[in-house]
Amino acid sequence: MNPTDPTAPRLPPRPTALAHGILQECLQPGDLAIDATAGNGHDTTFLAERVGAGGRVLAFDVQAAALAAARERVGAAGLLARVDFFLESHALMGTRAEVGSVAVVMFNLGYLPGTTHELITEPGGTLEGLICAMCLLKPGGMLSAVCYPGHAGGAAEAVAVGQWFEALAAHGWRVARYGAIATRRPAPFLLLGRKPA
Ligand SMILES: C[S@@+](CC[C@H](N)C(=O)[O-])C[C@H]1O[C@@H](n2cnc3c(N)ncnc32)[C@H](O)[C@@H]1O
Repeated sequence: MNPTDPTAPRLPPRPTALAHGILQECLQPGDLAIDATAGNGHDTTFLAERVGAGGRVLAFDVQAAALAAARERVGAAGLLARVDFFLESHALMGTRAEVGSVAVVMFNLGYLPGTTHELITEPGGTLEGLICAMCLLKPGGMLSAVCYPGHAGGAAEAVAVGQWFEALAAHGWRVARYGAIATRRPAPFLLLGRKPA
């Protein structure tokens, strides 16, 4: 691989790319998956690709602009028929899916890239959403969260979410954390949890 090639994959990978690389192994055609923070639709599109024509993706965001961007990206990939979009908080995902029915739930925290950063995920709502996700996942299902400790408000949320994932280990979950080290600003990191089978 040519390290100066701008199209070459970034190594080590960003947490968002790492999440896709790992979660693709956990998704089968026909699965139900949830994007808890649809944003610009990168994760929704990834999930829709992986669940196939017989699968379904539920995508949540509290900003209409985010859902419009996500819908456009999913549409450009020709995958709109596989996705239901909800202009509501991920704290309400429990009303949209059955307990124990979901293969993967992804959270990508912080603000919508390209906006003024006025609306960010907040620890209280994020933890509510994570608790719902924990219940909706089927045995062996995977939960992911990319945390951004580098922006105002992000550090406290990253600590709270990290502690919440750590606590899952006491309930039989396998949990892990991945992120760059020795960075100038606190680097984003990926949390993964696998529900006991
Ligand atoms: C970093 S962006 C997500 C990026 C997205 N996953 C992607 O692939 O492009 C974070 C998103 O979380 C959304 N958000 C904030 N609070 C939320 C909540 N309570 N429920 C659902 N989405 C929320 C924001 O509106 C923003 O669009």
